[in-house]
Amino acid sequence: MCGIVGILGNEAVAGPLVEALRRLEYRGYDSAGIATVENGSLDRRRAEGKLVKLENCLSEAPLVGHTGIGHTRWATHGAPNEINAHPHVSGDVSVVHNGIIENFRELREDLEKSGMEFSTQTDTEVIAHLIARTLKGGATPEEAVEQSLSKLEGAFALAIIFAGHDDLMIAARKGSPLAIGYGDGEMYVGSDAIALAPFTDTITYLDDGDWAVLKRDGAVIRDRAGRQVERAKVKSVASALMVDKGNHRHFMAKEIHEQPEVLSHTLAHYLDFSEGRVDRSRFDLDLGAIERITISACGTAYYAGLVGKYWLERWARIPVEIDIASEMRYREAPMEKGGMALFVSQSGETADTLATLRYCKEEGQHIASIVNVRESSIARESASVLPTLAGPEIGVASTKAFTCQLAVIACLAIAIGRARGHISEETENELVMALAKVPGHISTILRDESIFEKISHDLSHARDVLYLGRGVSYPIALEGALKLKEISYIHAEGYAAGELKHGPIALIDEDVPIIVVAPDDDLFEKTLSNIQEVVARGGRVTVLTDHDPDRIGADAENIISLPTVHPFATPLVYAVPVQLLAYHTAVFMGTDVDQPRNLAKSVTVE
Ligand code: M6R
Repeated sequence: MCGIVGILGNEAVAGPLVEALRRLEYRGYDSAGIATVENGSLDRRRAEGKLVKLENCLSEAPLVGHTGIGHTRWATHGAPNEINAHPHVSGDVSVVHNGIIENFRELREDLEKSGMEFSTQTDTEVIAHLIARTLKGGATPEEAVEQSLSKLEGAFALAIIFAGHDDLMIAARKGSPLAIGYGDGEMYVGSDAIALAPFTDTITYLDDGDWAVLKRDGAVIRDRAGRQVERAKVKSVASALMVDKGNHRHFMAKEIHEQPEVLSHTLAHYLDFSEGRVDRSRFDLDLGAIERITISACGTAYYAGLVGKYWLERWARIPVEIDIASEMRYREAPMEKGGMALFVSQSGETADTLATLRYCKEEGQHIASIVNVRESSIARESASVLPTLAGPEIGVASTKAFTCQLAVIACLAIAIGRARGHISEETENELVMALAKVPGHISTILRDESIFEKISHDLSHARDVLYLGRGVSYPIALEGALKLKEISYIHAEGYAAGELKHGPIALIDEDVPIIVVAPDDDLFEKTLSNIQEVVARGGRVTVLTDHDPDRIGADAENIISLPTVHPFATPLVYAVPVQLLAYHTAVFMGTDVDQPRNLAKSVTVE
C-alpha cells in the first residue's frame, strides 16, 4: 500500500526521504517520487517502478531543498506510471496521499468547472487542486487545508508542503495511518515508525481525524472538530529493529527461518513452561465470562482465525462465528451483547479489519485483537490486545506472523477452555507441552529443504495446484494455496478434502499436482480415502504427514515425512512445509518473492 514520508530538515532531504521510502518498500508499490521546497519553489522527481529508478533521476537532476515529502505508490486510480506517481502539484501546493478519496469524481467536476486543469487519473490530484484553489482565494495554508479536508470523503493520510514556506508541512489522517516524528530541530512524518527509525524514536501517532501543522520546532495537532489537542509522544522500538535479510536471499526466507525463535518468544509470553500452564494474566480478558466469539480478519490472518474456530469450538466448547472482514463490515450482522469480537492482523492497519472492529464495537462487543504491530490502529482501538512477538515482517507473503497468530490463538483456546471448565489441569498440561515442542519440530523441518526444492521444481511447471486438508488442516490447505499463488502466480486452490467429490474432483488429471495436508490425527483415515479417490483419477499427490509412509504406500507420488506432532499443534508445524513449497517454487520461477506484483503488505484501503 502507499507509503508516505515528510521531512522538515536542516540540510538536503532528498537522500533521507529515499532512505525512509526504502523502509516502506515492504508495503508494496509500483512508482515513487519526492518533492522539495527549493529557493521558495516546488520541484519534484518521480519514476515508475522501483526506488532505484527514482534514485537514478535524482542523481541526474538532484533536489537540494531542506523541506520535502516522498511517496511510494500502490496504484488504485490510474495506471502505475510516472504521470500518476506522487507527489502531485497544483500551483503552490504539493501533496502525497495514502488512501482513497471516494467523492473524487464530484470534486473533480467541480474543480474543472472552476478552471483547474487535471493532468493525472488519480483521486489524489483533487486534494492538491482543492487546497491550491482555496489558497488563491486568499486563505492561509492552514485555512486552505482545513477547509479542503472537510470536503474529502473516504480514507487518507496526507503530507503537504507549500511553495514559499520552507518551515511548514501539514499532515492529516482519516482512516489511513500516520505518525509524526520529533528530531533535534527537525520534524518528520511517516506512514509508520519503521520509516522514521533512522531519524528518531520519538513518535506521536495521530488519531483518526487529526491534522497537524509542523514546523522545525514542533507540531500543533488539531482533532476533527478543529480543537487543539495533545497526543502522547511514545518511544518507538522500531529503531532497534533490524530490517535486513541477514544471510538469506529474501526476507521471506529469513522470516521462515526465524519461526522457531519468534514462536518460542510468543509462546513463552503466554505459557508457563515450568508449570505446564497458560499464564492467564497475559490475556487481559475475563476468560470465564466470554459466551461467544466472532472472529474477523483478512487473507492469511483470516486463515489463522479459521484454525482458531476449530480450536476454540473443540477445546473451549465456545461458539465461534468467523467471517472475512471485507464481507463482515457490510453484512449488518446482529450481534448479541456480551460477546467478544476477535480481530487478527499482522499490520494492525488493514482497512477492512479496522472497519469491522468499529462495527462490532458499536454492536456492544468486547474488542480483542491479535496484532504484530503493537502501536497500530487496531491495537489502539481494542480493549484487549494479545500481541504476537514475531518482529517486523517485511516479506509481503505472511509467514512468521501467521504461525505466531496461531500460537496466540492456541494459548487463548486453552485459557478459555480451562476457565470454562472444559479442559482439565492434566489436559492443559498436555496441550502446553505440545505447543512447547513446536519450535523444535520446525527447526527439524528447516534443517534440510532439499525435498521441498525437488517438489517445488515440479510445481513450478504446473498451471494449477490443489491443496487439500480436513479439520484444522483445511485452513492450512487454504493458506498453502494462497502462499503459492501470491508469490509464484500459479493458480492454486485449497479445499476441504471431504468436499472434493462435490465438484472440485472434476479438475483432477495428471497435470494438476495435489498437495495433501494429512497429519496423523483422528481424521487421517478419512483424508487417506480422499487421497485414494484422487489417485484413482490419475492425480499426482504429495502428502505432508507424520504418519507411517508405508500406510500411504504407492498411492502418493511424494511423501514428505514430518516430525511426529501432537494433533493439537499440527497447524503450527504444517504451516512451514506449505510456506517452503511456495517459496522454492517462486525462486524457481524467478518472481519478485518479497514484493510480488500487485500486492501490498499493509492494505490500508478497502
Ligand atoms: O496485516 P494483516 O494481517 O491484517 O493483513 C491481512 C492480509 O492482507 C495478509 O495476510 C495477506 O493475505 C498476506 N499477503 C498473505 O500472505
